[in-house]
Amino acid sequence: MNKIVVTGGAGFIGSNFVHYVYKQRPDWQIIVLDALTYAGNKQNLEGLDTNRVSLVEGNICDNKLVDNLVSQTDAVVHFAAESHNDNSLQSPWPFVQSNIVGTYTLLEAVRKHNKRFHHISTDEVYGDLELDDPNKFTDKTPYNPSSPYSSTKAGSDLLVRAWVRSFGVKATISNCSNNYGPYQHVEKFIPRQITEVLEGRTPKLYGTGEQVRDWIHAEDHSSGVLTILENGKIGETYLIGADGEKNNKEVVELILKLMGKDITDYQHVNDRPGHDMRYAIDSSKLRTELGWTPKYTNFTEGLKQTIEWYKNNPNWWKPQKTETEAKYAKVGQ
Ligand code: NAD
Ligand code: TYD
Repeated sequence: MNKIVVTGGAGFIGSNFVHYVYKQRPDWQIIVLDALTYAGNKQNLEGLDTNRVSLVEGNICDNKLVDNLVSQTDAVVHFAAESHNDNSLQSPWPFVQSNIVGTYTLLEAVRKHNKRFHHISTDEVYGDLELDDPNKFTDKTPYNPSSPYSSTKAGSDLLVRAWVRSFGVKATISNCSNNYGPYQHVEKFIPRQITEVLEGRTPKLYGTGEQVRDWIHAEDHSSGVLTILENGKIGETYLIGADGEKNNKEVVELILKLMGKDITDYQHVNDRPGHDMRYAIDSSKLRTELGWTPKYTNFTEGLKQTIEWYKNNPNWWKPQKTETEAKYAKVGQ
């Protein structure tokens, strides 16, 4: 395998993956297929040799374009999606279109050309856990998504499973927990709070802030995906997580502390309708069967580096900030 198509490679995790593969596999060619929606940014791929990484601006629902690109490649790594729960509550249609129809379009192309496919998904397809539940999500946990976002990701996962079973498509799936790191859009929790502080305002906690997310650095997600792409068993689902459970209040307090502010200097805003309480990943299958381990095991260190990245790259995030905050203000968040 040395030529891959990476869908959504100009977004947050997709671009982290492109940078990771670029370093780890110097003989690979990477074609990024990205529609450059509000969440995609060409700058995320700056500095990479264009002889090795090319960007095709286009939609994963465009079957002619997809068919043509897939025919020229060895494998497709599929990150492209509408990815933000809050947006899916305001306007679900783009989620149905990109996440379900887009995945269907790619599956038909890899079926026709008999290419390897890896589908990136989320732990949110499993619904949520109680705070005191001793269990974590595994690949055997029943699907029970809560939001338009997570239900469309669940739908896309089920399409992949059906294309494996019915048509013998050579696909794997990974379901990962919440990512943080460079190039994440300021609509998401961690970059929103960092950039609020950088702009002299206070972090915004939805509801009580006791909800728990299982944080993983985007580089560790990337190494997990590359491991599965190269060594995963066809038809299998692998959960990717780094044992990073923290509640939202703890994360906000840590951001304030690392940025030299008073840790009580945040505000509570309207809660998210249907807000999932807790996500937690059991990644033992990926660790024991494929030998994967995360590198960023110290969340404080990873967060420090992420804060530095936002401090050093105001030109990257400032253009997104005003519009994002205006959207939140409309719903009291
Ligand atoms: P993102 O919103 O930052 O990036 C998505 C990218 O996909 C953007 O570059 C966008 O332009 C592109 N895109 C969207 N619709 C498209 C379409 N129809 N055609 C072509 N390109 C399109 O998202 P992200 O946070 O990087 O998430 C990437 C993937 O990882 C998604 O599939 C998401 O469900 C999954 N995931 C995300 C997280 C997380 O914490 N962010 C956790 C687990 C899984
Ligand atoms: P988010 O980054 O949107 O990811 P997800 O919904 O996929 O978990 O949100 C992470 C958590 O942070 C979630 O519990 C909602 C909460 N949150 C806030 O408290 N304040 C905010 O400003 C945002 C954007 C999210």
